[in-house]
Amino acid sequence: MNELLHDTAPDFDQPVAVLKHCHGRIRKQLATLEKLLVHLPEHGADQQARQAAGAVLKYFEKAAHLHHEDEEQDLIPMLRAVAQGEDAATLQALAPVILQDHKDMDAMWQDLHEQLTAIADGSGTQLSNSTVQRFSQRYLNHMEREESTMAPMAMRLFSPQQMAQLGQAMQRRRGILPPAAAIGERVADLRKDYGQASLDESEVADDPIRQFTRWFEEALKAEVNEPNAMGVSTVDEQGRPSSRIVLVKQFDERGFTWYTNYDSQKGKQLNGNPFAALLFFWSELERQVRIEGRVERTSAEESDKYFNSRPLKSRLSAIASHQSAPIASRADLEHNYEDVARQYGETPQRPQHWGGFRLVPERIEFWQGRRSRFHDRVVYTRQEDGGWTRQRLQP
Ligand SMILES: Cc1cc2nc3c(=O)[nH]c(=O)nc-3n(C[C@H](O)[C@H](O)[C@H](O)COP(=O)(O)O)c2cc1C
Repeated sequence: MNELLHDTAPDFDQPVAVLKHCHGRIRKQLATLEKLLVHLPEHGADQQARQAAGAVLKYFEKAAHLHHEDEEQDLIPMLRAVAQGEDAATLQALAPVILQDHKDMDAMWQDLHEQLTAIADGSGTQLSNSTVQRFSQRYLNHMEREESTMAPMAMRLFSPQQMAQLGQAMQRRRGILPPAAAIGERVADLRKDYGQASLDESEVADDPIRQFTRWFEEALKAEVNEPNAMGVSTVDEQGRPSSRIVLVKQFDERGFTWYTNYDSQKGKQLNGNPFAALLFFWSELERQVRIEGRVERTSAEESDKYFNSRPLKSRLSAIASHQSAPIASRADLEHNYEDVARQYGETPQRPQHWGGFRLVPERIEFWQGRRSRFHDRVVYTRQEDGGWTRQRLQP
């Protein structure tokens, strides 16, 4: 009977069903191995045995690998991206076990592969009972684990678009769809329309620090990822800019403060040219805030106070690291840390080269994403008398 008639695979538009279907085929191959164990002592490597060994070889050499790759490269990373709370915890515990199973099963397969190749070409009749049992048991447990946790989780958590994405990746892996364009080209297709909120110059606060505080509180409430992370751009003596992320540790009427190493690249650049730009991007709220102004150092008392509030290991790290200077290896870095920890013990003092920078704003722009790239932008500019004017800008 034509095998396709009773073994029709589900479509790739149901990728989880395809993965389960693969499990069905793996179970069949495992059953064939069991039958071979009984068959070989009685009949040797006869035609039936050779055919059966060939079929098992073919499946585990190719299809099983593709199946593992589906899980390792697509299903698990996609689940990791969407799972939260209990699901995330389950996944965190389960994913390493699944990956280890794949490795161990691959290693066991290597032993079986040699024996089955000899049976398939009629030159051998040896098939290790214990290896077959271990291989089979491991696979059965493994599939059971996946079917009882990962598959239902994917069915629950994936949107139709994510299902389609998984299905397409699985088809590409099998050559059914052409390979995706390089990520560097596909990036142009990433498009998101914004429309959560609006920003009206008549509704914003008169004072940009108050407006920033309002938005910061909303970012906290929306559980934006690291809302206090901001880009800091500085320029070198030739006017060439460089940017990096730091954490804002305080903001108030005086400005926006972060802590760092004064001898770092940014520290040196700010010494030469004290003007900088800060940038917040709160993706979840479709908001950006740009802040420009002059940078000054915080007072020694302020830097001490913040330094002493940090966990001990962070304080020791700040002393041990000559931030932005090259070092030969991680081991050298750890070695420096150990030296510092031995030398300073539990009460390290803030080193002179470490402290706060405060950007005193002269211009603050609030950007709210709107539909079809018709965004809202309101910019505040500091006046000579210290007050602020505000103005809408075109998107
Ligand atoms: C999320 C995040 C937070 C960071 N926070 C700080 C910080 O508060 N202070 C700091 O000096 N570096 C921080 N860094 C590291 C900087 O981005 C940068 O690597 C380092 O300050 C050296 O920059 P430079 O060589 O341009 O001076 C952070 C990096 C990230 C990704």
